[in-house]
Amino acid sequence: MTILVTGGAGFIGANFVLDWLAVGDERVVNLDKLTYAGNLKTLAGVLEDPRHVFVQGDICDRGLVDGLLVQHQPRAIVHFAAESHVDRSIHGPGEFVRTNVEGTFTLLEAARAYWGRLEGDASADFRFLHVSTDEVYGSLEAHDAPFTEQHPYQPNSPYSASKAASDHLVRAWFHTYGLPVVTTNCSNNYGPYQFPEKLIPLMIVNALAGRELPVYGDGRNVRDWLYVGDHCAAIRRVLEAGVPGETYNVGGWNEMANIEIVETVCRLLDALRPSELGPYGRLVRFVTDRPGHDRRYAIDARKIERELGWRPKETFETGIRKTVEWYLSHTDWVVDVQSGAYRDWLSTHYGRHSGAPA
Ligand code: NAD
Ligand code: DAU
Repeated sequence: MTILVTGGAGFIGANFVLDWLAVGDERVVNLDKLTYAGNLKTLAGVLEDPRHVFVQGDICDRGLVDGLLVQHQPRAIVHFAAESHVDRSIHGPGEFVRTNVEGTFTLLEAARAYWGRLEGDASADFRFLHVSTDEVYGSLEAHDAPFTEQHPYQPNSPYSASKAASDHLVRAWFHTYGLPVVTTNCSNNYGPYQFPEKLIPLMIVNALAGRELPVYGDGRNVRDWLYVGDHCAAIRRVLEAGVPGETYNVGGWNEMANIEIVETVCRLLDALRPSELGPYGRLVRFVTDRPGHDRRYAIDARKIERELGWRPKETFETGIRKTVEWYLSHTDWVVDVQSGAYRDWLSTHYGRHSGAPA
C-alpha cells in the first residue's frame, strides 16, 4: 500500500513522513516543489529508504500529479503543500492563491479522475485528507468560546483566505462528486524542523545570534499551540478512522499570549545556553503590529477526541523544552536554512530589528 503526501519537505509534512516511516511500513510518495520552505536536509534520513519516493514538483502541474497517481496507485492523498506564512502573504499574496487555491483544485481534479477509475474496496477506502488551519475561522474576542467545526468562516489574511477557499473546494468536491475527503483544521504547530520565520524558531535563532526578538504590537495576541508530533498523530488517526465529508478541529488545549511564549523560550535558553551578555529577555522589542493581526485563536478539539479518541500527548512544557533542545543540538540544519534568501526576508520584513547586514 502507498500514500501520496504533498508538501512533505516542509515543517509538518516532513515530520509526518518521518513519523509515518517510523511507525509503519507503508510506502510514501512525497511530492514537494522545494520552495524556500521545503528542505531535503530534513528528509536526509529517509532519502535512501525504499519506502520513501521523493518527487520534486508542483501540485499545480496536473500532468505530473496524474502520472504519479497512475504510477503509484495510492490509497490516500495527504495534502500539506501550501504557502503557509501569514507575513509573506501580506507582502505577496499571489503565490498563496496559486498554490493554496489552484494547487488544491488541481489535486482535487486529479484525485477525482483517479478515484473514478478505482473499483470495489480500493474505491470505498480511498481518502483525500486536506490539512488546514484554525485561521479560516477568523479572530476571537477574549471571552468567546473556542472554535468548533460549526464556527463560521471569517478569514482575515490573504493566507487564511486562500486556505478557506481551498477548504470550500474540498467540501464541494465531496458534496458534488462524492470524493471521499476529510479536512483537519489545526492550531499553531511548533517543534523540530520548523523554518525560523515562524514565532518560536525565529525567537530561538535570533536569541542565539544576539539579534532582537521582535514581538508584534502589545504581545497579547493569543494562539493555541500544539506540538507537531501530536498533529501528525491526529492526521494518522483521521486518515484511519475519519468519516468522509467531516472536518475535525485539532488543537493543544494550550492558549498562550505571544509574549508568554517568548518569555518561556528566553527562560529555557537562559537555563540551557546562558549568554555572557545577560538574560535573553533583554533582546525583546515590541515592534509595529502585523496588519490585520488576528487577536485570538482557540480550538475546541472535543470532536476528534470523542469520535476518534485523539488527544495531544505533549504538554506545552514538555513540547517546548524538546523543541529548544532540538534547535540547540541541530546547529547544522539551523545554519543551513539561514541562507542568503532567509537573511533577505529578515531585512525586508523586520528592517532594523532583523540584525541582518544592511
Ligand atoms: P511549510 O511552509 O513549512 O511547508 C510547506 C511545504 O509545501 C514546503 O515543503 C514547500 O516546498 C511545499 N510547497 C509549497 N508550494 C508548493 C507547490 N506549489 N507544490 C508542491 N509543494 C509546494 O508549511 P507547514 O507549516 O509545514 O504547513 C503544512 C500545512 O499545514 C499547510 O497546508 C498549512 O496551511 C497547514 N497548517 C500549518 C500550521 C502551522 O502551524 N505551521 C497549522 C495548521 C495548519
Ligand atoms: O493557527 C495556525 C497557523 O499558525 C497556521 O495556519 C500558519 O501556517 C502558521 O504560520 C501559524 O500562523 P501564525 O501567524 O499564528 O504564526 P506565526 O508564527 O507567524 O505567528 C505567531 C504569533 O506570533 C502571531 O500572533 C504573530 C506573532 N509574531 C510572529 C512573528 C513571526 C510576532 O509577534 N513576531 C514575529 O516576528
